[in-house]
Amino acid sequence: MSTKYTVAVLGTGTMGQGIAQVAAAAGHATRMFDAGEGRAKAALTAIAAQLEKLVQKGKVTDEARAATMKNLSIGPTPKDVCEGADLVIEAAPEDMALKVALFEEVAKVVAPGAIFGSNTSSLSITELGRRIGAPERTVGLHFFNPPPVMELLEVVRGLGTSDETVERSLAFARGLKKTPILVRDVPGFATSRLGVILGCEAMRMLESGVASAEDIDRGMELGYRHPMGPLKLTDLVGLDVRLAILDHLTKEIGEQFRAPPILRQMVRAGKLGKKTGEGFYRWVDGAPQPK
Ligand SMILES: NC(=O)c1ccc[n+]([C@@H]2O[C@H](COP(=O)([O-])OP(=O)(O)OC[C@H]3O[C@@H](n4cnc5c(N)ncnc54)[C@H](O)[C@@H]3O)[C@@H](O)[C@H]2O)c1
Repeated sequence: MSTKYTVAVLGTGTMGQGIAQVAAAAGHATRMFDAGEGRAKAALTAIAAQLEKLVQKGKVTDEARAATMKNLSIGPTPKDVCEGADLVIEAAPEDMALKVALFEEVAKVVAPGAIFGSNTSSLSITELGRRIGAPERTVGLHFFNPPPVMELLEVVRGLGTSDETVERSLAFARGLKKTPILVRDVPGFATSRLGVILGCEAMRMLESGVASAEDIDRGMELGYRHPMGPLKLTDLVGLDVRLAILDHLTKEIGEQFRAPPILRQMVRAGKLGKKTGEGFYRWVDGAPQPK
């Protein structure tokens, strides 16, 4: 039997909602907070709808759905949901200062020895741990989109992360039925660094008229057996999220990560991908349509 935790998820957007669902389904009491008005409640409703679909398809039993929903709750402030928590997972926007402020705000109310897990795609776990004054208990728990479906969990070890935190994180990942990989804390870790470069090149190709978005994606899907082309994937991830990662990696690693102008322009126009209904595709009822 794996250890059951009280888990607090801070930020219930694209990722936090799915992370909370996965944690609750694995039997952890899971509390959610989001700074956006009504967003934690919306996440709870969306998880219920998600589970209903799975029940309809026969993939989840009624009992399992009820148990998952029973494990989920929302709270009005970060402190409320983190009171006595064994594990805090933040899935707030990709901004170091914001993540530091969130963990600092809850540090005094969590359970003794609690782990601070960050879902960051690229920021330094070492720096985060130092800035919140708990390097040994800070770890990267990098889930993939959408968390209930994707099997990988990248566990990122900062310079100060203790062996115990790493072991507990790996066990937590396995308890969620994820396959963890353990990665040293380098900018972009093992996955984002490689993933964004492909997306970046696809955008440059679109910009210079090499082919349509659909054909660039089809090339990778049919020619290289990628389950999803790089532009569709960028829409799914969120263009703003990808831009933040690229800006960070440009600073940390170099010019090969410089964001293509088309990406910056689309973010400025509010075309953030699936979550706003338009990115490199138009999204209708959750499915991509050519523009
Ligand atoms: N989108 C992806 O595919 C993906 C994949 C892996 C990791 N990540 C990482 O996960 C994190 C979240 O990304 P996302 O795509 O879910 O973003 P998102 O924009 O969909 O969600 C972020 C949520 O955080 C909330 N928020 C803002 N400030 C907050 C605060 N101070 N406290 C609590 N909540 C706050 C927002 O209201 C929003 O609901 C980022 O660090 C990102 O790099 C994203």
